Amino acid sequence: MNKTAKIEIDGKSYTFPVVEGSEGECGIDISTLRQVTGCITLDDGYANTGSCLSKVTFIDGEKGILQYRGIPIEELAQNSTFVETAFLIINGHLPSEDEMAKFSSQLTQFQNLHEDMKFHFEGFPSNAHPMAILSSMINATSCFYPQVMQPYDPETFQIMSSRLLSQVRTIAAFSYRKSHGLPIIYPKPSYKYTQNFLHMMFSDPYEDFVIKPEVWRALDLIFLLHADHEQNCSTATVRYVASSRANLFACAAAGVCALWGPLHGGANQAVIDMLEDIRQGGDDGRKFINEVKDKKSGKRLMGFGHRVYKNYDPRAKIIKKRCDQLLEVLKINDPLLDIAKRLEECALNDSYFIERKLYPNVDFYSGIIMRALGIPVEMFTVIFAIGRMPGWIANYREIAEETSQRIYRPRQIYTGLTKNPYVPMEDRVSKP
Ligand code: CMC
Repeated sequence: MNKTAKIEIDGKSYTFPVVEGSEGECGIDISTLRQVTGCITLDDGYANTGSCLSKVTFIDGEKGILQYRGIPIEELAQNSTFVETAFLIINGHLPSEDEMAKFSSQLTQFQNLHEDMKFHFEGFPSNAHPMAILSSMINATSCFYPQVMQPYDPETFQIMSSRLLSQVRTIAAFSYRKSHGLPIIYPKPSYKYTQNFLHMMFSDPYEDFVIKPEVWRALDLIFLLHADHEQNCSTATVRYVASSRANLFACAAAGVCALWGPLHGGANQAVIDMLEDIRQGGDDGRKFINEVKDKKSGKRLMGFGHRVYKNYDPRAKIIKKRCDQLLEVLKINDPLLDIAKRLEECALNDSYFIERKLYPNVDFYSGIIMRALGIPVEMFTVIFAIGRMPGWIANYREIAEETSQRIYRPRQIYTGLTKNPYVPMEDRVSKP
């Protein structure tokens, strides 16, 4: 029997259908709520609101489960690559050999930016944050491929989404070169996706950067682990913008902006800043943990806590293991890793964190891997953005293909002034 939910308002009862997902989670469908009751729901930070039906990613935050298209993240991390996983997320199935070859060759074909885009990089100040450059340049890409602004059709989407996935890493690498006053390095068709990114970042015009397999594989894993995460702030933003029928590049640029904040993708940079501060202050981590517990300090243990995970983030487990392996292989002794491990141990045994179910999230150890790979700290969130692109594209696609999709337009409860008549300038009393 189909489940229903009853809501009682002022003694009057209303019945609503309950929608059940393929993994058993339930949502009360209140789409007729305002029409039949005159009320709306109020849900701070949307913590209890399902904004859509989606087939892309499943998370069970209580159990620490993450699956892309039904495949556990652990299996993908073990067996797949970022590009294969991107295909899976965007298209809903693992690629056949032919599909994989076609997808890879398209990514290679589209990797060069339109040559005129190079001049746009000149306009940014040399200290511009690469996330600002990334969002601007992704948006600017629509000027060079105006067909992206036509109403959705599957063939154009296929070409434009491959172009976006390929060019995001070219834009990212160019923005890094620009901010360091270095000459631009063009991609090489013979390199794989992640190798090419490292090449464009670190090669010189007169000498190619030597790309160690353990280095590009570690970065590829970081991309893969970030590839989607259901309705997080940036993906929900992409869907929001897509619901107005804005083009794919505009939606992705909006996603980059939402990701930038320190409570979201910017946390990986904030974690390293926090660990550096602790190291420079000579603290072994305990003082900092006490400061975090004092709400008046305004400090948070960055890289800890998650809206959905009330258990260890499965991505953090994989990253922590790879971090240990990588530092050993590269013979790097990073004091920040020791501080991070001490903080984790303190936090996991402290009632403040236990009661609130705060565990390390994906950002806690990813910055330490990226440091070991030579990625500068201001590029950390850019790396997250490259990784998240398949998820944004897949969520854009779900919206664009749903012909009955309505524009996202939440309501509000107004709490401002009422009956406030307009006062002419000469009669206004200035407030202190
Ligand atoms: N350090 C200290 N206290 C925390 C932390 C933290 N990192 N995270 C949450 N809390 C406390 C918070 O103060 C609150 O306490 P109380 O109940 O006494 O008021 C309680 O835990 C619940 O926190 P919340 O802010 O209501 O939780 P939220 O779901 O709104 O926020 C979060 C989730 C990720 C924004 C938050 O945990 C946080 O700020 N973490 C640090 C930033 C971070 O690592 N962000 C990356 C998230 S994972 C990658 C991504 O999605 O980008």
